[in-house]
Amino acid sequence: MLTIALPKGRIAKETLEKFEKAFGEKFVFEDRKLILEKAGFRFLNVRNQDVPTYVMHGAADLGVVGLDVLQEKEYDLIKLLDLKIGQCKVAIGLKAGDKLDWSKPSIRVATKHEKIAKSFFESKAMAVDIVKLYGSIELAPLVGLSDCIVDIVETGETMKQNGLEVGDTIMQSSANLICNKNSYYTKKDKILALKDSIKGTM
Ligand code: PRP
Repeated sequence: MLTIALPKGRIAKETLEKFEKAFGEKFVFEDRKLILEKAGFRFLNVRNQDVPTYVMHGAADLGVVGLDVLQEKEYDLIKLLDLKIGQCKVAIGLKAGDKLDWSKPSIRVATKHEKIAKSFFESKAMAVDIVKLYGSIELAPLVGLSDCIVDIVETGETMKQNGLEVGDTIMQSSANLICNKNSYYTKKDKILALKDSIKGTM
């Protein structure tokens, strides 16, 4: 049995569709159930940011997670396959017409992606003051909570509709199949066979 942590929502659905194509079975979580067991797989329905945690602790052999989330956690996990879903970028967002003032002693940045934001500004020798938020990040510069945001941009529509402009891209992200090292060594054949089956559907 392989246990696979999936992030709730669209990525879980799109990943399960890949499994359906690969194995010819229907994989659907029932109503509010958080576990789905079928055809030698056990899927866990977890929050996006929690996927690497389940995999790191060995509660799941594998997981599907965005590279942006993986980068924030800094865990030592194996990236097996880019699933080419959930494609987006992590970018700066500014109030339309605003420019970042690099002459300030520090820039205040609202974000969920603390580490990514911090290392981006530090690589430009700019001190940052991170305001950690959990959602609706786009609000922060509008109400003076921050100078800018660092957030996920897929279509750019959320920023646009909230009077923000997309600035520099910090990184590209997409959902990847990841694995912990212990599972990789103890279940290598199964895991590589799964990787190849999924790859075959792409
Ligand atoms: C992300 C991000 C933006 C939105 C961007 O949120 O925080 O709000 O998507 O997409 P767009 O460029 O296509 O408008 P997500 O849906 O991941 O949810 P969450 O941040 O609330 O968890």
